[in-house]
Amino acid sequence: MKKTIAVDGEHAYQVTFADSWLEKLNEIRAKRKSVLITSSKVADAIGLSIEGFDLFLVPDGEAAKDVVTLQAAWEFLESHGIERQDLIVAIGGGSITDFAGFAAATWLRGIDWIAIPTTLAGMVDASVGGKTGINGRSGKNLIGSFHSPKEVIIDLALLSTLTDRDFRAGLAEVIKCGFIADPEILKNLEDSTLEELRNPQGIAKLSDLVRRSIAVKAKIVSEDFRESGSRAFLNYGHTLGHAIEHLSGYQLRHGEAVSIGLNFAAHLGFKHLGLERESYLRHRELLERYDLPVRFDSGAFDSLFSVMRLDKKNKDGIIRFVLLREIGNPVLFAELKEGNLRVAYQEVMS
Ligand SMILES: NC(=O)c1ccc[n+]([C@@H]2O[C@H](COP(=O)([O-])OP(=O)(O)OC[C@H]3O[C@@H](n4cnc5c(N)ncnc54)[C@H](O)[C@@H]3O)[C@@H](O)[C@H]2O)c1
Ligand SMILES: [Zn+2]
Repeated sequence: MKKTIAVDGEHAYQVTFADSWLEKLNEIRAKRKSVLITSSKVADAIGLSIEGFDLFLVPDGEAAKDVVTLQAAWEFLESHGIERQDLIVAIGGGSITDFAGFAAATWLRGIDWIAIPTTLAGMVDASVGGKTGINGRSGKNLIGSFHSPKEVIIDLALLSTLTDRDFRAGLAEVIKCGFIADPEILKNLEDSTLEELRNPQGIAKLSDLVRRSIAVKAKIVSEDFRESGSRAFLNYGHTLGHAIEHLSGYQLRHGEAVSIGLNFAAHLGFKHLGLERESYLRHRELLERYDLPVRFDSGAFDSLFSVMRLDKKNKDGIIRFVLLREIGNPVLFAELKEGNLRVAYQEVMS
């Protein structure tokens, strides 16, 4: 099995599959002065003994992506004499890699960073592609920068301590990759179960799914790093998904909201773009196989529509959806009127 996947951005880098993330970390630290950024919850979960490191701890989860924490990180980098040739290593889920990548982007006009993702969503999505950032007062990811890591190190053993809920949420992004670009992912998931993927004996299947999903993302971001075209396909399921995530007050995991959004987008593809009914239903069956939600409050359309209209990805106030003509063939579709969306929403959610 290939040990690396190449990604292009403002520079080329590799996603490396490692047998031991700790060995890799020690190799890196032996070569360059490095600051580690993680949270105490992640450090505990993965058994990282924090002695002997220049370590900056952030609050757990989304709370890390805050300007007050960033200010503290800059002060830490300054007091530890971090210079242009030095390195930041991010160990954690997407909230930590987003934060640490942005700290690296802004320190001394940009220093190198390496990502060691510890969640499934982090491995297949957040750590690859160079988007880094923190949240603004009025919305997620408002403050950020494109700043690709120098390397992404994947060790699947890190996933063993993840909750089933977070694991499933990551699978929603894997399923998304399957529908937009790699039907083999769908077949493999249809032949498997959550228990099997989480069992050490299922490691080959999980490894294949993670590699395929990273390959999908790597190909798309390498072709369209700054999102002027096809990178938007990675937002399949995200137009409604983001609005649901927001409206739930972030009580739903990103992947759970995306799962509902995928089922909705599949229905729109079926109604408006000729996606076969069987392919539409395949979305729901697969998401439900992994206990991911496919429905949201049927009375929430008006609130969701207001949030979708404000999405920063819209142009001229028109809501754009990524839809499928067929599996593996996504298009950006901007012709849906409020009435079309309302009818589809009622059909899917009731
Ligand atoms: N930059 C991008 O392209 C991109 C893409 C997708 C998502 N994101 C961002 O990623 C973030 C979500 O990332 P996430 O889903 O990884 O969530 P997360 O980073 O918030 O982590 C979720 C929870 O898992 C815990 N955790 C992490 N690793 C663990 C482990 N190995 N064992 C046990 N517990 C562990 C964390 O402590 C946390 O409580 C969001 O902020 C989102 O905006 C960024
Ligand atoms: Zn996502």
